[in-house]
Amino acid sequence: MLEGLQRLESMLENPIERETVSNTTPAARLHRLVQISDCHLGPDADFRLAGLRPWYSFHEVLRQLARQADTIDRVLVTGDIAADGATLAYQLFGQGMSLLGLPYHWLPGNHDDFAGMRDNGQLPPFEPLIAVGPWRLLCLNTAVPGAVGGLIDSHQLAALEAALDTLADHPAAIFMHHPPTSIGCRWLDRHQVANGEALAAILRRRRNVKALFSGHVHQEKEVDFAGVPLYTAPSTSVQFAPGSNDFALVQAPPAFRWIDFYESGRVETGITVIVDSQERVDVAAGGY
Ligand SMILES: [Fe+2]
Repeated sequence: MLEGLQRLESMLENPIERETVSNTTPAARLHRLVQISDCHLGPDADFRLAGLRPWYSFHEVLRQLARQADTIDRVLVTGDIAADGATLAYQLFGQGMSLLGLPYHWLPGNHDDFAGMRDNGQLPPFEPLIAVGPWRLLCLNTAVPGAVGGLIDSHQLAALEAALDTLADHPAAIFMHHPPTSIGCRWLDRHQVANGEALAAILRRRRNVKALFSGHVHQEKEVDFAGVPLYTAPSTSVQFAPGSNDFALVQAPPAFRWIDFYESGRVETGITVIVDSQERVDVAAGGY
């Protein structure tokens, strides 16, 4: 683990050639946020998930982000930082993010320990509302202790509704771990936010939410939700097979989503894949 950290430190300290990952120019956009998701880190660097080492694939993502650091304004991780809520997993995550040096935010997933994340001193505080110019980014906690599936509790629904009314003149985006609707993957669709319809009802009454972004499904997808685009993110570790009825892995590299916010309220987004990843998943591994 120490060797890996030293390797990452040297990678991040040495200037790396800047890469352009989209056709938008830094001058044209207001703000670039990178969404990373579902790191599934274990308590040590050699922890394996379906044969793959999530700590190493996470660091491949960090290395790519370091290459582009001067074009990225902040990072938001949409849950499942840890594979099983281990305190040491959050420490490893925090160490990696500190080395990267970009501001970052987080929200919890079903594999996380929300209380532990808030109390361990390694991560920044959980922030439900982030201001980016005229934009307001709203982070929801959809994790239910002891459950795989998601839910938005009544307090958050009421707070969201009030916030959107207060922020009626601001473009807004919502970030969450579980998608609030089906993404065409039957076994994962069972985990969707159980009361997604309550969220949809709030969105239908307001027009300032421009996009939603979720994790959990370990795959890239765009679907309509109450007239608003919902974008899911691939994982920094293992990827699930799109369109599968039952649990299925696919041999695909770690990846992340970039999101460009514009002053006008426009948002653009896309995926960057770590094409030279050295990590391999055992696609025959079973179970979730
Ligand atoms: Fe999850």
